[in-house]
Amino acid sequence: MITSKQLRDKWIKFYESKGHLNIGAVSLIGDGTTGVMFNVAGMQPLMPYLLGKPHPSGKTRLCNVQGCVRTVDIESVGDATHFTFFEMMGNWSLGDYFKKEKTAWTFELLTEEFGFDKDKICSTVFEGNDKAPRDTETAELLKSLGIKEENIFYLPKKDNWWELEGTVGTPCGPDNEWFYPKDGKAGSKDFLTGNRFVEIGNDVYMQYKKTATGYEELSNKNVDTGFGLDRLLLFLNGLDDGYKTDLFIGAIKYLEKVSGKSYDGDEKAKKAMRIIADHTRTAVMLIGDVNGILPSNTGAGYILRRLLRRAIRYCRDLNIDAAEMIGVAKSFIEDVYGDAYPLLIEKETYILNEIDKETKKFQATLAAGIKEFDKCITGIERKNAFMKEKDPAFVPETEISGKQAFRLYDTFGFPLELTKELAAEKGLTVDEKGFDDAFKAHQEISKAQTGSAKGGLTERTEMTTRYHTATHIMLAGLRKMFGDKTEQKGSNINEERMRFDFNCDHKLTDEELKTLEKFVNDAIAKKIDVVRSELPYNKAVAEGAYGVFSPKSQDEIVSVYTIGDVDKQICGGPHVNNTEELGVFKITKEESSSAGVRRIKAILK
Ligand code: ALA
Repeated sequence: MITSKQLRDKWIKFYESKGHLNIGAVSLIGDGTTGVMFNVAGMQPLMPYLLGKPHPSGKTRLCNVQGCVRTVDIESVGDATHFTFFEMMGNWSLGDYFKKEKTAWTFELLTEEFGFDKDKICSTVFEGNDKAPRDTETAELLKSLGIKEENIFYLPKKDNWWELEGTVGTPCGPDNEWFYPKDGKAGSKDFLTGNRFVEIGNDVYMQYKKTATGYEELSNKNVDTGFGLDRLLLFLNGLDDGYKTDLFIGAIKYLEKVSGKSYDGDEKAKKAMRIIADHTRTAVMLIGDVNGILPSNTGAGYILRRLLRRAIRYCRDLNIDAAEMIGVAKSFIEDVYGDAYPLLIEKETYILNEIDKETKKFQATLAAGIKEFDKCITGIERKNAFMKEKDPAFVPETEISGKQAFRLYDTFGFPLELTKELAAEKGLTVDEKGFDDAFKAHQEISKAQTGSAKGGLTERTEMTTRYHTATHIMLAGLRKMFGDKTEQKGSNINEERMRFDFNCDHKLTDEELKTLEKFVNDAIAKKIDVVRSELPYNKAVAEGAYGVFSPKSQDEIVSVYTIGDVDKQICGGPHVNNTEELGVFKITKEESSSAGVRRIKAILK
């Protein structure tokens, strides 16, 4: 038996012995630079260094164990090996060693540290295409280490190439994946067709940068290794179910106790327990993260809400109160992850409290929502039966309408994906386009009700968006010149110009106007990314965000736009992605607006 703690330690020790620095883990929440909401791989925070920037530690050999969240297939969670959170054990060469050392070390780790039989290891390499060559070099190295030739496979890009999806400018390259037979038997005849083999890890040779049209060779030849701790753990312990490792056993035992059901005795209960355990674990990690988030209706907060609400729904299958998820969360924090992630212990009360709030909120409408959903189904079934009787050629309806799905969302808090999942269980689909239309129509109505002139933004065109970002930078400049008491007193933007009012006790001098203009143009020249994040109001303020905004509660989730170290404002947006999109900023007029309030008009060229 090897525990999760022993495995983490073993990984770090091994790579430290090969001259690597343990850099520890960073936040699970994406930093906005990759377009990926969560950290999906250990390499993600290291992208600038894989692209050639020197690492702040001055080292070129790094390792760590990094938490990752992948939510692309939330719906697959419920089987034995899918998790939405997992820990990736990684190590990197930043232009240091390459294929020769890496293949040898992975081989040594697997055979000597973990006791794998070299004759049973299978390994796959990139077969090559018109953009990058066949990786015969790695295949030769594997052979020279003692891996059998018949256990080495050349596979195409879809299998043996690694890159972050959809993101231009990121490092990528061919990879070498390592597999081992689940049944422990030798022979790789059915490697490509069967599911006897489990992927245990991946060595990526990141020597390219993804461009809009293809790949560009990097000056650095890097290595990016990722081994999934959760997966390897079950495998090293001879298990075939990830929910039986020490990471999950406490959560499952707890659910067995409170439900009176046995995990192994009942397939429905097993699936529910897995979903509740997995989703609660991810929720604990996301709420308890250094950049912790809370359930909300947009962005990452919405994914968290989906996870929690899906778990809450599965509590019904176990006949337990969703408040029991708190006990599950507690077991993860206190018995499993507290040692490796001490922040979870520090934030325990907060985490449990937030999970409690969300379960209460959703439980209050869940039963009524399920009733409403059942009514939709009965309605469809009745209509189908009725029509069929009248017209035998009638094609039965198999879709829940967008309006119905939106009502479930708006009135009962059902995330669209939950409605889709419930529908699928009945063999039905949901009209997603109809849902989007209903959603938009609803937004239009709310906008009309609240008055869209609030932020001075009447319509959100590309041009008005640019002006909006310019007002942020200009206000930052004014605050720098006249102090933090300077506030926005009004703003009006159209396609042609911006008009901006702020408190100030004097007419601005030509000198001051020049300084201000220069401040904005300097920020534009620096090509700074404009990054949106969502966080509790009190945290936003503590981080220096400001804005004319009165929160309903101190922990209300607000949207914050950060422009490098130039500006940080609480704001609904929208904004440009990078300040370079603004062009040239020019002040055209300065005048009085009212007592103690000055007005500046400016244009972007
Ligand atoms: N970045 C590689 C992966 O996620 C190691 O598999």
